Amino acid sequence: MIYDLRASLIGLSYFVSAILFIFGLKRLSSPTTARSGNQLAAIGMTIALAVTLLDRQIVSFTSIIVGTIVGAAIGIYFGRTVKMTAMPQMVALFNGMGGATAALVSLAEFLRLAAGTGGGSGGAGELASIVLGTAIGAISFSGSIVAFLKLQELMTDKPLRWPFQMQLNLLVAVGILGLGVLVVLGAGGTAALWGVLALALLVGATAVLPIGGADMPVVISLLNSFTGMAAALTGFVVDNQILIVAGALVGASGTLLTLLMSRAMNRPISNVLFGAFGGGAAVASANGRGPGGAPAVVKETSAEDLAVALAFARSVVIIPGYGLAVAQAQHVVRELADELEKRGVAVRFAIHPVAGRMPGHMSVVLAESNVSYDAQLELEDANSFLRSADIALVVGANDTVNPAARHDRSSPLFGMPIIDADAAANVIVLKRSMNPGFAGVDNELFYHPKTKMLFGDARKRLEEVLQSVKSMAMV
Ligand code: TAP
Repeated sequence: MIYDLRASLIGLSYFVSAILFIFGLKRLSSPTTARSGNQLAAIGMTIALAVTLLDRQIVSFTSIIVGTIVGAAIGIYFGRTVKMTAMPQMVALFNGMGGATAALVSLAEFLRLAAGTGGGSGGAGELASIVLGTAIGAISFSGSIVAFLKLQELMTDKPLRWPFQMQLNLLVAVGILGLGVLVVLGAGGTAALWGVLALALLVGATAVLPIGGADMPVVISLLNSFTGMAAALTGFVVDNQILIVAGALVGASGTLLTLLMSRAMNRPISNVLFGAFGGGAAVASANGRGPGGAPAVVKETSAEDLAVALAFARSVVIIPGYGLAVAQAQHVVRELADELEKRGVAVRFAIHPVAGRMPGHMSVVLAESNVSYDAQLELEDANSFLRSADIALVVGANDTVNPAARHDRSSPLFGMPIIDADAAANVIVLKRSMNPGFAGVDNELFYHPKTKMLFGDARKRLEEVLQSVKSMAMV
């Protein structure tokens, strides 16, 4: 009777946790509700963790308490100190830990079954879950660690290639499959599962090494979905419903996010995984052609001239990109927008879905400086606002405003929806040089007759612009 009550309580609590996860995820889909979504999911996770401790199979609370304290301390430290621009590598690292955990739990369960302490030797379904949980978790772990090393610049972020790479990876994958079948048939013993683990670790690393550093966010999202799947499989192995639900949610949302990112970049996922795109292969180029192939002429402006133009404009659209995040110019850009608004200028921010290097990068960066969500326009609204705007001010963005995406079939950007900066009456581009962005291609916007370049670090130049605007008398 007591046991039944406990089982019902655990089941009910897991159900509540699952609902909280689902609503939390739903709210994460908009910047305005994301914070509360995160809180809901955190409450769900707290309930799930607390209730799991009621499970009768828990034998030692000491290791759980020690693990919780150490893990929480590390999590709090990273959560508080990580820079926004270093977020992708932190996600990679934490994701890798999830993959490793799933693999280790599957492995431990197998060893327990093999030692005969689990009561039974495991059916084919359980053994298949063990093999898949081990393999997918290990791939996710080693792949994530390589992604972390690349993004943290602890190794080259250039695509690493060697002869017969794909064929060798395929061979290793066949090896994993063969050993996995042996385990499921109960023929290979523990050596076969250790083999699956070793080969999966190898293929995770060798699959990510050939991908350029700049493509890592998409890869991390994919590996994140792998970790989710591995966790769900582990849930089947240890018979824990909430692990199955949470893993499936992570797996599904990671897959969707990967596809959305690829679609927003107009690149099939196969191109990300096998295309060796970006990754520092870009070459500086200052000899582009203007619209219609006309000789390229670049016009420069100064911070003072830009300040005058902005102060007397009716409407301005600021288009932030990766360079704004690198320069940490979000605070000064918000101050500039406030100063202009005080002068009656309508200021909006145009947010491209893949501006920066991670999903929602620009929204997150601008949220740091409290730019209101009302002022942030998504692609379509931004483009309709730009048609009547006086100035498009591009701050550290490049590919996301490259008109070649609209008409140049030979461009790697062709087909990617862009922010139509050139629809505004005047365009100012703020960046340090004529160097290309992530895609490594020249940007014809820089040579457009209505464009002027302001060269320099985004934060420093915007500070100068802000001071100049402030020094101007209000009219
Ligand atoms: P990019 O095309 O990468 O261009 C960023 C520009 O910022 C560079 O051209 C660089 O020019 C400039 N910059 C760098 N540091 C700067 C600084 N301190 N001050 C001023 N400018 C600076 O950026 P974007 O327009 O945001 O496009 C993002 C690209 O990343 C897209 O191609 C997208 O497909 C790709 N991508 C995005 C994601 C996600 S999910 N967001 C994931 C993977 C890849 P200088 O060197 O001349 O300054």
